[in-house]
Amino acid sequence: MTTATPRTTDVSERTFPSGFRWGAATAAYQIEGAAHEDGRTPSIWDTFSRTPGKVRNGDTGDIAADHYHRMPEDVALMAALGLTDYRFSVSWPRVQPTGRGPASQKGLDFYRALVDELLAKGIHPVLTLYHWDLPQELEDAGGWPERDTAHRFAEYTALVADALGDRVGTWTTLNEPWCAAFLGYAEGVHAPGRTEPEAALRAAHHLNLAHGLGVGVLRRLVQPSAEVSLTLNLAAVRPLSDGPTDVDAARRIDALANRVFLDPVFHGRYPHDLRADTAALTDWSFVRDGDLAIISRPVDSLGINYYTPTVVAAGSHPLPSAWPAAQDRAMFLPARGPRTAMDWPVDADGLYELLTRLRDELPDTPLLVTENGAAYDDYADPHGAVHDPERISYLGAHLEAVHRAMAEGADVRGYFLWSLLDNFEWAYGYSKRFGMVHVDYASQRRTPKDSALWYADVVARSGLPRS
Ligand code: FCB
Repeated sequence: MTTATPRTTDVSERTFPSGFRWGAATAAYQIEGAAHEDGRTPSIWDTFSRTPGKVRNGDTGDIAADHYHRMPEDVALMAALGLTDYRFSVSWPRVQPTGRGPASQKGLDFYRALVDELLAKGIHPVLTLYHWDLPQELEDAGGWPERDTAHRFAEYTALVADALGDRVGTWTTLNEPWCAAFLGYAEGVHAPGRTEPEAALRAAHHLNLAHGLGVGVLRRLVQPSAEVSLTLNLAAVRPLSDGPTDVDAARRIDALANRVFLDPVFHGRYPHDLRADTAALTDWSFVRDGDLAIISRPVDSLGINYYTPTVVAAGSHPLPSAWPAAQDRAMFLPARGPRTAMDWPVDADGLYELLTRLRDELPDTPLLVTENGAAYDDYADPHGAVHDPERISYLGAHLEAVHRAMAEGADVRGYFLWSLLDNFEWAYGYSKRFGMVHVDYASQRRTPKDSALWYADVVARSGLPRS
């Protein structure tokens, strides 16, 4: 259990408590490249990105930001920015090619070297086991809708925990299981690109089960002081009005986006209303006796990824098929505010709403903001500088929202900016730049954007500059 970080009572104006963790986040498939090296086998994202029409411009993660070969340079960048923490993910098919059997020592060596480099620079490694790159062979055997995939995840977790359990202090089982289940198996806009709503619900359950099995393995194999966590992209759901139909539409979305994970993990049950809403799709018989006890094994913190709020109204406007049980019952409306290059409205209040909700619902669970950031159309000017004032203003507003929630009692222990580097933004390929460090993909040259220099200053003072 982590108890070192002080509680939030010592928040003073615009300053974060000492010990607050300041990080940046990345994910293996988005930055590593080296897709065919050292025994790595294809993941579902290698297959999906090679499927015509799935990823913008036909981009793949084959080279990405070439982090696999430039890791020491990238860790040196983090150190120069003063980061206290770095959140990265391990590529399952690099460490356990094909998703079964023994570990690839070369794969593990890369992560050992990364972790050692971080520790040598005084940066705390925050390791995510699953950030969406399922070995293709496991998808060929049925993927997350199959129960066995959760057991395969537990086996893979043991390989990584054995290798790195003595030196990694924070372990996250899954990143955003909502995207893996619903974007991957219902809407099909993420790998593996299936459009089977019932399979998406089974996938969600097996991801929950994988999480719980993973927690059990980690408790057994990693240092007892390690923090064990899970990262969810909870939706900050706002009903358009107080009217009962809008409120009911928001309830439905909240069940499908949030409570499908929060309730089993933290309360050992699936919500009754979720089961009722999805009754036409499934009887949930894939939930077996004992599963919920495994899924609700205690965690030490919860990671939240937040980008934009979700405004919901009653209505029959077609919803993306990621929302199987809400069709004809709910529709999304755009939030107000300026837009990022993803066309996502900028609205920091949503982050405040989420953090204060979790303060109330999970008062004993420390929180980490494990992702927050924005894409803009950044470019290097003739002098090589990258000016990104919109990103600075996005980050400043969201850090103020975190600060406000902490001042009102939310137990937030850290903030991780998405992302350290420009990278492969899933179905958008390289067309969207989320990095605070610009990557010129032709030369792989890294250039800290103005926002990186701004963030380094925030980290150094552990607070926001007075405006
Ligand atoms: C999140 C993902 C992350 C990144 C950001 C923009 O959903 O976890 O990998 O793509 O969105």
